[in-house]
Amino acid sequence: MSIRFDDRVALVTGAGAGLGRAHAKLLASRGAKVVVNDPGGSLDGKGGSNSAADAVVEEIKGAGGVAVANYASVADREGAASIVQTALDSFGRLDIVVNNAGILRDKSFAKMELDDFELVMKVHLLGTVYVTKAAWPHLLEQKYGRIVFTTSGSGLVGSFGQSNYGAAKTAMLGLMNCLKYEGERSNIKINMISPVAATRMTDGIIDVKTFELSKPEHVSPAVAWLSSDDCDLTGEIVVAAAGYFAAVKVMRTEGAVLGVGAPATIEAFAAAKDKIFNFETAKPYFRTLDDKVKQALGII
Ligand code: NAI
Repeated sequence: MSIRFDDRVALVTGAGAGLGRAHAKLLASRGAKVVVNDPGGSLDGKGGSNSAADAVVEEIKGAGGVAVANYASVADREGAASIVQTALDSFGRLDIVVNNAGILRDKSFAKMELDDFELVMKVHLLGTVYVTKAAWPHLLEQKYGRIVFTTSGSGLVGSFGQSNYGAAKTAMLGLMNCLKYEGERSNIKINMISPVAATRMTDGIIDVKTFELSKPEHVSPAVAWLSSDDCDLTGEIVVAAAGYFAAVKVMRTEGAVLGVGAPATIEAFAAAKDKIFNFETAKPYFRTLDDKVKQALGII
């Protein structure tokens, strides 16, 4: 049975180009009413124009879909709230929040100005916070919501020259991990994608062959499924690139119990290093007082 979004209202931030445009178009093609947010502007966040959001709205309407533009910056509290308000004013509700907007200000940490660090944190992390915070009471009240964050391998794994971007992208992981509990009883599912796609953001960064094969449209099915009624997962990270999909988790090794009742020596830690860092038998990390910790505490 086909997955549809009839009677659902979605907002997609940064939907005037690249990945956001592809997400908005896919959701609209399956019946969602979509707020296409984008203030325009350059890759480093300068300037602005209504034309980016307007063009995508026209594309969606031209294909028989329903969409409305919003030109606010997610990095501005009132602007972020206006994106949610546009959904409520235009369509009477909001069900799906795709946080996708982003910019880059790459430089090695040694050369990076703190202003560039703060701006990137503001757009990616606080922009996601502001939009999600404005949507949250409506999702809680209607006891339904689907939220997607956009993280990056640059944060999950790291990347030279992207300390600001990597920090912002991985800070979202902590946000998601906490909100998944706060949304649990209200049927709010909140997940992340870690995409790779040919956009202006990756032009000249990923190799030519990968660039040709990695269209934003290849990522959008994951975003759409995570935004759907069918989505029964929360707190997950999905890697999506060129038709490849996989899940990522924070892992914990089996570890070693080195001292019960008294601190281990530094030498004992050094001797157990290979065991502590043995990821071959690692498992997803859950914050529970499991048997290993109880053993260390001498409870069992
Ligand atoms: P893009 O530059 O084509 O699209 C980003 C969009 O966000 C632009 O249309 C831009 O106008 C908009 N935007 C910028 N600042 C904004 C603000 N303050 N408020 C609202 N909108 C704003 O780049 P792309 O590649 O489509 O990126 C989309 C998201 O995916 C970003 O969050 C990016 O960090 C993330 N990402 C992309 C990857 C890729 O391979 N393309 C890899 C990993 C993450």
